[in-house]
Amino acid sequence: MISLKNKVVIVTGGASGIGRAISTLFVQLSAKVVIADINTKEGENLSKEINALFEHTDITQLESVRETTKKVKEKLGKIDVLVNSAGWDEIKPFLETTPEFWEKVISINFKGVINTTYCVLPYMIEAKNGVIINISSDAGRVGSSGEAVYSGCKAGIIGFSKAIAREYAKDGIRVNIICPGPTRTPLLESITKDQLGAKIISAMEKYIPLGRLGSPEDIAPAVAFLASDYASYITGQVISISGGLTMVG
Ligand SMILES: NC(=O)c1ccc[n+]([C@@H]2O[C@H](COP(=O)([O-])OP(=O)(O)OC[C@H]3O[C@@H](n4cnc5c(N)ncnc54)[C@H](O)[C@@H]3O)[C@@H](O)[C@H]2O)c1
Repeated sequence: MISLKNKVVIVTGGASGIGRAISTLFVQLSAKVVIADINTKEGENLSKEINALFEHTDITQLESVRETTKKVKEKLGKIDVLVNSAGWDEIKPFLETTPEFWEKVISINFKGVINTTYCVLPYMIEAKNGVIINISSDAGRVGSSGEAVYSGCKAGIIGFSKAIAREYAKDGIRVNIICPGPTRTPLLESITKDQLGAKIISAMEKYIPLGRLGSPEDIAPAVAFLASDYASYITGQVISISGGLTMVG
């Protein structure tokens, strides 16, 4: 049985969907979880429900992330694991998107991961121990219609994570990437409210070899494994969790 006993874990986007399932499973596996999310209401409610901590955090703002990591270090003494799950998108044909929309997508989905990594790494290097798990997307491996800029950000996360994995392996830090396929969460619900989004997701669903969309609970166990000492020789790797929709070599 995987144990995350005494591990201090920050989960960005931990208030909803995949991040919520990760936070919940990690607490069950005895980790000390800090939910870092922009949604205070959901974050506070969940932290009370599962016995985690909540820190209001906007990952697009370096100062907000710096403040959160500083508080976690002061309150809990260390940061063992960072899970970057916060993300956002709307499905639109690329030529119907605007520079303001690109900016928002890039800030949340790519710059957010850079900000959190930048703030957490110094603590991990000091401890000569740390694990980062980035929730990218199969959109970043194979592309996704209606999600061009988002796909670019998710591919960016993969390259960024591998570079950090190489650069800081000597400091005892491991970095891995999880790529979910379409997964039933509030984000997917909002995407399928749109006619184009609903069409794309239902077309994808038909081609999933395991015959159904994913659930957040399908994703969380792999994240727990990568966070655990069982994965101590695994770094710089990309794992798709998509019911076989993508089988990238
Ligand atoms: N659901 C899917 O089908 C799917 C597929 C592939 C990848 N993903 C990725 O999985 C991750 C989780 O997505 P989800 O489907 O659970 O979405 P979700 O909308 O259910 O949860 C996302 C969370 O991120 C938080 N968030 C958004 N902007 C933030 C910010 N600036 N600062 C801090 N928190 C912020 C939201 O408040 C929310 O709690 C995302 O990175 C997403 O891109 C999801």
